[in-house]
Formats: sequence, structure tokens, C-alpha cells
Amino acid sequence: MSLFHHAMALLLCGLCVGASAEPLDEPLKPLPAVPQQDARRVELGRRLFHEPRLSINNTLSCASCHQLDKNGADSRALSLGFDGKPVAVNTPTVFNAALNFRQFWDGRVKTLEEQSNVVITSPHEMGSDWRTVIERIGNDPDYRRDFAATYPDGVTQANVQQALASFERTLLTPNSRFDQYLLGNTDILTLEEKYGYQRFKEYGCIACHQGVNIGGNMFQKFGVFGDYIVDRGNPTVADQGRFNVTGDEADRAVFKVPSLRNVAITAPYFHDGSALTLEDAVDVMFRYQLGRLPSEEDKTLIILFLTTLTGQGRDKP
Ligand code: HEC
Ligand code: HEC
Repeated sequence: MSLFHHAMALLLCGLCVGASAEPLDEPLKPLPAVPQQDARRVELGRRLFHEPRLSINNTLSCASCHQLDKNGADSRALSLGFDGKPVAVNTPTVFNAALNFRQFWDGRVKTLEEQSNVVITSPHEMGSDWRTVIERIGNDPDYRRDFAATYPDGVTQANVQQALASFERTLLTPNSRFDQYLLGNTDILTLEEKYGYQRFKEYGCIACHQGVNIGGNMFQKFGVFGDYIVDRGNPTVADQGRFNVTGDEADRAVFKVPSLRNVAITAPYFHDGSALTLEDAVDVMFRYQLGRLPSEEDKTLIILFLTTLTGQGRDKP
């Protein structure tokens, strides 16, 4: 930045209360804006997201497991599928999922469109099939009218997937206190929270949890120092992570690094829901991902920093 610009920034800042208007140059980035989309498609997607007829026995909607008035997930270690049986892995939040480079813990699908195909037809989750879904939605006069108004070919599998994905792309949670800090309102964080962010960088959490979603942009092994799964006991197929997708030995127990946005409100943690509190999860990260034992103080500071990542806009109409 030139001296002139700097002087201008300082001058302009004389007008704003306790804040520098300059975005900070940090390795973590603020949440981007919601992309421009057809409002009618978003609205259709919102209705479909709350539609129990997407599950074979009309019991579960997406919102049953991804509760939008809470944290975009539920509070169970394992949610229950349409048949009342627990699913294989912990339900991640749908908030900001659109920003992840892949979907699912093992990253087996790339797009939100493909994600809804998998969950609707999964025999463990919604247990349905597209013929049934299209029949039920297509026979509903309100859906038929509203689909026809926004998609030339009306109710089709691709359009149901597109509408759901359009809605999900709006489920961003902006304005976390940390985002406001990144945008230049440096007074919004307490000194301890700022120290916590510093520790997060210094210990190397940021090597894996990074980018606009503070995670969600790479795969990493769970258990770099020691075998978390063996220590936990009762290994499952799902614990094999990306190995199930690639068949490559090097991908055993490799998972998508989860986003840490809203992490203070998304307990329990990990793909198996095995960490009940944020403190448990951070302890495991230190031990198994970093091979370090932090001071109590540093751990507390990092947890304080993590609580600044809770965004706004959850359960907007
Ligand atoms: C029975 C509970 C349940 C229902 C119903 C459900 N989900 Fe999920 N959802 C999950 C679980 C569990 C996962 C993680 C699965 C995995 O990683 O293999 C998941 C993952 C996702 C993801 C990926 C998030 C990420 O960060 O990887 C998205 C997006 C999503 N669901 C959207 C939906 C939509 C849209 C619907 C409705 C069509 C839906 N879900 C219905 C439990 C559910
Ligand atoms: C080497 C990469 C790596 C490092 C370093 C790392 N993490 Fe993680 N983190 C992961 C992976 C992978 C997972 C998902 C593990 C799983 O559930 O299978 C994860 C999960 C988490 C979770 C649980 C999130 C959720 O929604 O379930 C938290 C919280 C977390 N990490 C915080 C931290 C903190 C704090 C640090 C630094 C002390 C850190 N991580 C360092 C890779 C890493």
C-alpha cells in the first residue's frame, strides 16, 4: 500500500469508530457473498429441503437431520435414517457446505447437486428412488405449477437437485466476529481471542484448517501422530475414510478437513461423533494431528478463538 493510500485510510478512519477500514492481510479469509441466483429456484429448494416426501416413508426431510434453526445439523453422534437406524457417520452442518471443495467426510462427491442424489437414494438415509420422488412432487399441483414457472421442463430429477443446491448455496453464515475482524474491525475481538488466533497459527492448526471456510479445502489423515481409530476401538468401514473411495492404502483414515465455521455450536465432533465437547476435539487435534501437548492456557485461548467463528443468518426465511 502506498503512503498516500495509507494516509487516506487513516484519514477515512477518523470517521469510523475504533475500526480501521482496511481488510487485514491474513491467511484466513472472510466468507464470500451469496452468489446471485434465481430467487424462485431458491424458494423451491427451500420447500424441497423441508419436504418429507423426499424420503421413502414420508418421515424425513433434509431439515430433520440438518436443522436450520439450530446449527445446520443435529446434536446426535449419529442421526437416524428413515428406518430409525443410525447412519454411518456424524451429520455435518449444511451451513457454508457450498464452500467445501468436496462434499461428505470422504469427499466422494464434488457437487451439491450430486450430494442430494446420494442422500435421497441411500438405503440408510432417505431410502427413496427418483421415480417415486418425481411422481410425488410432480403430482402435487403447487410444485407442478412452481417448477413449470422456473424450469422449462418442469419437475425432473435434475431440476429437483438444482433447486436444492440453489437453496444450499444461500446457507452461508456471514458476519462472525472473526470475519468482522478480518474486514478491519480489529476492536471486535478481545485480546485473548486475538492471542487464540495467533496460537492457532503458531501451532499449525492453520496448515489444515484454512481458506474461506477455515477448512473444507483439502484431505488429511486423521491420526498423523498415533492411530485415533485403534485407540478409540471398534473400527467401522466408515473409519477407512477416503480409502473407501480410492482403494489406495495411503488414503486409509484420510478425511476432508472439516470447516471450523460455527464449530462452537456443532458438537459432537469428528466423522464418528466421538468428541462430545469442543475441548475434547481440540485435545484430540493436539495429540493426534500435531503430536503436541499444549499448555492449558494456550488450549483455552484457541477455544476462545474458535468461538468467534460463529456466524449470523442461520434460519433466515
Ligand atoms: C438421516 C439424516 C440425514 C438426512 C435426512 C439428510 N442428511 Fe445430509 N448428511 C447426513 C450425513 C450423515 C452426512 C455425512 C455423510 C457422509 O459424509 O458420508 C450428510 C452430508 C450432507 C452434506 C455434505 C456436507 C459436507 O460438508 O460434506 C450436504 C450438503 C447435505 N448432507 C445436504 C443434505 C440434503 C440437501 C438433504 C436432503 C435431500 C440431506 N442432506 C438429508 C445426514 C442427513
Ligand atoms: C494435519 C491436519 C490437521 C491439523 C494440523 C489440525 N487438524 Fe483439526 N481436523 C483435521 C481433520 C482431518 C479433521 C476431521 C477428523 C475426522 O473427523 O475424521 C479435523 C477435525 C477438527 C475438529 C472437529 C470439527 C468437526 O466439525 O467435527 C476441530 C474442532 C479441529 N479439527 C480443530 C483443530 C485445531 C484447534 C487444531 C490445532 C490445535 C487442528 N484442528 C489441527 C485435520 C487437522
